[in-house]
Amino acid sequence: MQHRPMKLYHALQSQGFGTRKVCVARVRAGEVAVNGEVCDDPEARVDPARLELTLDGVAWAYREKAYVLMHKPAGYECSHHASHHPSVFALLPPPLVQRGVQCVGRLDQDSTGLLLLSDDGQFIHRMTSPKKGVAKVYRAVCAEPVSDAMLDALRSGVQLNDEPAPIAALACERLDERSLRLTLAEGKYHQVKRMVGATGNRVERLHREAIGLFTLPADLPPGGWRWLETDDLKQLEQSWPSAMS
Ligand code: URA
Repeated sequence: MQHRPMKLYHALQSQGFGTRKVCVARVRAGEVAVNGEVCDDPEARVDPARLELTLDGVAWAYREKAYVLMHKPAGYECSHHASHHPSVFALLPPPLVQRGVQCVGRLDQDSTGLLLLSDDGQFIHRMTSPKKGVAKVYRAVCAEPVSDAMLDALRSGVQLNDEPAPIAALACERLDERSLRLTLAEGKYHQVKRMVGATGNRVERLHREAIGLFTLPADLPPGGWRWLETDDLKQLEQSWPSAMS
């Protein structure tokens, strides 16, 4: 974390409150409180280590990097340039979007569940790199009953188009007649749907329950988001297979 004092307008800009010009103007207009007190000097030095900015009646703790989790609802695209459905970024406050958060591994438009977002490129890389193989846990409802043969095929590996070798689930279990829980090490395009399709079945509903050791909080409703706090990040950083073994 950065501890050096910075100019107020710069702190605002870094948190996604607009261009330098916009931030300077908002401070001069008396719209910004620093740790509870209005400050109208854009060049005032503030300490990012203990900085709470208030704008439009909303308090924002300064965060050098943004780490966020969302319960993605169905019917939203994980893209800044969504074409057929609204974007998940429309569910976040504008400053988070403005500071450039990206999805850490996408979910399909019709999939639901745990979605991470961040503006920390190294974190995104660590979480999505095929070399790291962070496990993703999905619950899928299928069109046809989940047979033993289907579970065996998913465990031993199925051949997908454009893949050089069969891909196996890290784990796979039947939950009820048409549902299964599937854990994957990769994050390939439509991977669950294609793997289930390769067994002759079809995914009707797909939900991501967990990424590594981190599980979607049960009290976060679809469409809801919250910051990832230090303990959440620690849990995610322990999610690589080498750290888990
Ligand atoms: N696999 C899929 O097929 N879809 C998702 O949204 C995620 C994983």
